[in-house]
Amino acid sequence: MDVAALEARARPLIDSTAFDYFAGGSDDEITLRDNDAAWRRVRFLPRVLRDVATVSTKTELLGTALDTPILIAPMAAQKLAHADGETAMAHAAAEAGTIMIVPTMGTVSLEEIAATSDAPRWFQLYMHRDRSLSSDLVQRAAEADYQAIVLTVDLPVLSNRRKDVANRFDLPEGMMMENLAVSIDSMHGSGLGEYTDEAFDPSLTPEDIGWIESLTDLPVVVKGVLRPDDAAIAVDAGAAAVIVSNHGGRQLDGAIASADALPAIVDAIADRVPVLVDGGIRGGYDVAKAIALGASAVLVGRPMLWGLAIDGAPGAKGVLDELTSELARTLALLGATSVGRLDRSLIA
Ligand code: LAC
Repeated sequence: MDVAALEARARPLIDSTAFDYFAGGSDDEITLRDNDAAWRRVRFLPRVLRDVATVSTKTELLGTALDTPILIAPMAAQKLAHADGETAMAHAAAEAGTIMIVPTMGTVSLEEIAATSDAPRWFQLYMHRDRSLSSDLVQRAAEADYQAIVLTVDLPVLSNRRKDVANRFDLPEGMMMENLAVSIDSMHGSGLGEYTDEAFDPSLTPEDIGWIESLTDLPVVVKGVLRPDDAAIAVDAGAAAVIVSNHGGRQLDGAIASADALPAIVDAIADRVPVLVDGGIRGGYDVAKAIALGASAVLVGRPMLWGLAIDGAPGAKGVLDELTSELARTLALLGATSVGRLDRSLIA
């Protein structure tokens, strides 16, 4: 999987301000770079003579059977990558046998995605100051057969994304955040920042996990945790799974790389709930490293957008297929016949 080459192919197909939005991180982009570098630093200690004639990448997550432990991360405004946007991404998830995490800030509504695809879907929630808007989103997701709510907790305020400010990033004429029925316009800087500062609730506490649970039977997954103590607090508050994430290097710059944060969080909570991780996963070998370190599954973001930009649903599906076949090859080379056989003894 050559993500740099994939990105280079996608880049000319995407409007340059949208490309900057997708590819960029916050401030000096230290965490953005470190996410990639941290997985590269992990070394395997492979087993041999283990009969790997048959290997399987299948797994199970919160009751859903998956063909691959690679989920599609929630990403805003996917129509900026391809006209078919989130609909195409959902088709890719269905065909690859995995879960799409559908974004609050999507450019196709959660209902329209549900109507066109039977992929297992989780709905990513940004808590709005207007609580009735948030409870409506949760209820709409439940009615449309989403299988979990993924509460993002690392965006009390939007970070400083220099390129988006300079570009006055917004959505083009005719494109909207369809779940919210709002267009994003820039007054003077990042239009996204202007929206989130006004609309998102910076007063979230662990009690809000319980509040979401009071609205729905769906499990609540908490995304954006980097500390073992916060992970334990989230689980105590009712989280059914935790996603170790620094928002793809897009929020606090200088935050720890997700690969570096993962082991301590696994040690703190993985005996209670599944731990997932995202940020810098760029090959099947990174997926194997994450699972060997104790993750149940991973999320992949930007590479999915590049595949989507290049060829819509088949392009996005192609990225999932390539990552999954790399994972299968890595399992064989590690002497593990399934993802369930990955453990820390395989990490040097
Ligand atoms: C972002 C938000 C909207 O990272 O999730 O751009």
